[in-house]
Amino acid sequence: MPKFYLTTPIYYVNARPHIGHAYTTFAADVIARRHRLLGDDTYFLTGTDEHGQKIERSAAAAGIPPQQFADQVSTSFSDLWQRMGITHDQFIRTTDADHKRGVQKLFTTLQSLDKIYLSSYTGQYSIGEEMFVEGPPGTIGPDGKPTETVTEENYFFRLSEYQLPLINLIESGELAIQPDVRKNEVLSFLCGDTVGAAGMQEIGTPSPRRWGLTEFEIEQGVRAGKIKLAANERPYVPGALKDLSISRSSFKWGVPVPGDEKHVVYVWLDALANYMTAIGYGSEDPAEIAKFEKYWPADLHLVGKEIIRFHCVYWPAFLLAANLRLPRAITAHGWLLFEDSKMSKSRGNIVRTETILDAFGSLKPEAPKHEQDLFAADVLRYFLLREIPFGQDGSFSFDALVQRYNSDLANGYGNLVSRTLSMIEKNFDGVLPANAYHPFAEAESLRSQAQAIITSTHEDYANCHLTRVATSIASLVGISDVFFSGLTPWKLAKSEDPADRQRLAQTLYTASESIRIITALLYPILPYATAQVWQQLGLGDIETAAANCELKNLQWGGLKPGTKLGHLSPIFPRADKGLIQIMTDAEITPPTPSKLIDEKTTHTAPIPAASTDPAAPPRTTALTETNPGAQVAGSATLTTERPETPSHTEAPASGPFAAAALASEIPDTPQIAIDDFVKIDLRVARIIVAERIPKADKLLRLEVDLGYEKRQILSGIAQWYTPEELIGRRIVVIANLAPRKMRGLESHGMLLAASAGDDGKPVLATFGEDIALGSRLK
Ligand code: MSP
Repeated sequence: MPKFYLTTPIYYVNARPHIGHAYTTFAADVIARRHRLLGDDTYFLTGTDEHGQKIERSAAAAGIPPQQFADQVSTSFSDLWQRMGITHDQFIRTTDADHKRGVQKLFTTLQSLDKIYLSSYTGQYSIGEEMFVEGPPGTIGPDGKPTETVTEENYFFRLSEYQLPLINLIESGELAIQPDVRKNEVLSFLCGDTVGAAGMQEIGTPSPRRWGLTEFEIEQGVRAGKIKLAANERPYVPGALKDLSISRSSFKWGVPVPGDEKHVVYVWLDALANYMTAIGYGSEDPAEIAKFEKYWPADLHLVGKEIIRFHCVYWPAFLLAANLRLPRAITAHGWLLFEDSKMSKSRGNIVRTETILDAFGSLKPEAPKHEQDLFAADVLRYFLLREIPFGQDGSFSFDALVQRYNSDLANGYGNLVSRTLSMIEKNFDGVLPANAYHPFAEAESLRSQAQAIITSTHEDYANCHLTRVATSIASLVGISDVFFSGLTPWKLAKSEDPADRQRLAQTLYTASESIRIITALLYPILPYATAQVWQQLGLGDIETAAANCELKNLQWGGLKPGTKLGHLSPIFPRADKGLIQIMTDAEITPPTPSKLIDEKTTHTAPIPAASTDPAAPPRTTALTETNPGAQVAGSATLTTERPETPSHTEAPASGPFAAAALASEIPDTPQIAIDDFVKIDLRVARIIVAERIPKADKLLRLEVDLGYEKRQILSGIAQWYTPEELIGRRIVVIANLAPRKMRGLESHGMLLAASAGDDGKPVLATFGEDIALGSRLK
């Protein structure tokens, strides 16, 4: 049985959990459930990171010892994970004795291999980020606060020795980093400033460039000894990776350096080691040793994008130095941002998962509390994965949460289930009718589309394209709904004609079978709700089915006619807008220090405000965020985020394409700040499919390739462009426009076009030069 060892970052205990932490943990839970149903021997680790000056100071501010402080906050994480139905196998705490022993073993091993030396260092230290940063005294650190000058005799790790090995391992894919944008960030960090080292930039006509350099510059740089070539001929600046300080002596809250206890181990070495100590590294117990042998190396470290340098540079370097195996893959997701910029900017004003659990849980008043929580957790996990393109940043808003819930779950999946199953109950006494009739075109088409989605979903799960998984399943719900409505089974049910009765049976069978497939595919994302649907389909316990690998190789036709349906009840009651207000009210008051911890935890002292405000600018310690606009990708909508503009110059937010103001008009749009502009995620895309939509003469259905994903966009350009002339064109897409439904189809973005002449003929924006798909316009 293949093993799959999966980890989340361990969360700092300086502040209580918020939905940013829940996001990573949900995503990991989805991946873990998927691997379990594939039959993999899955081990899922999460936990808390409890050492370091930041925690020591937070505890001091709260007036309690650091251990007591860490105990309280760590409990608020583990309690919440339980409410959310997270299926981790272990919750590690870095204050666990076993962990500390393992960290010391790693330190001693590195020392014995001469990978560590003692040296004195003066530098600017960011307390918030627990790292030295470049710059003069008082430099503003990545956490937005002035650094402190720290002189210390420290232990240093010979990180510089690993520059070339790391570049080669990453370039070759042996150490896989996803998505590509993060891989490139890590590589450019490792390679140093090759453009600067090459010394000269060719002036005149631009010539083709690789990694920002011309062939000529590479050659010159290599000849001058300033540049070398790594795997794949990638140029790098030798020596760009410096040794790393891995101990601190100015505070005490950490794992003591073995044999020199005035030092504590650098908190990131301590924290990263958790991935091994959790599964037995450093233990003498034979069972633990066997566990380590079995599960190490990790198959996937799932992290937020801001900590990739730690995971993709430091961590593999420590492991290489200690002769230990490297993790197979590191996948970084983006940041959750908040709809209301005012709210998101005020410090400590975060969205708590508990707010959402309480609000959505109230839609199931009859259910026991723990089921209410699981139901609400389903809603949030579905929303986060469906709405925030996995790997990119995206906005969170209560409004979008309620909307998405109603459209996809209450009106979409839930409605499909209840329409189909209640008709079986009414017309066939709750027994699934037989399907032994001639296949008809609509049923065949649904079957083949479902089969295609089974295949693509399998791939997408394997590649952590979780948003694509959710989107494809949602499209299967839509297709099934169209199938059901198109055959008007309610009319067939009224007919006396036996042929109609047969058609009714087959329609209901086919819709039920599609529901079975949808439900099996959705199980990792909606574990609670799919369990209900599985019961209603008469298939019993979905957890058992998952454990028996019955959700694995899905084939059309698995439902057995004659199956007695279970008890039917509504799965996703509609949420009314009042819920938005309830959640907003629960979060509107910036939490005062004493409210920052879950009421349930019995603490004696207040916990200070969160310094990890998820809406604060990403912490750029890992790799500098060169693309501020990337922070607003996702579900930000033009209509809510743009300042009001006079209607005649406003791009028609509800129209099919974004039109520039007519040339003859004098634009009088109000000025916007650059911050407003960067909210619009404009991307280069290629049209790969273009087709007309039956009975809609203005609309074309397009599929566009953004390089990092493919999407469906509906565009009102059918009067001016034929599908044939569009296919293959490189265009500009507004990629972070909230999805809209038109003619029952979802549109994910808009094309950018100028509006020409009196009739407003759209002229698509395009490029005169070759440009990579997905490139951002800014
Ligand atoms: N303790 C370190 C990680 C050590 S791992 C060996 C740390 N902790 S953290 O609590 O600050 O953040 C951990 C993770 O929480 C992030 O990498 C990310 O996965 C998640 N998130 C925290 N805030 C988030 C958002 N606003 N949005 C998305 N994820 C966020 O760094």
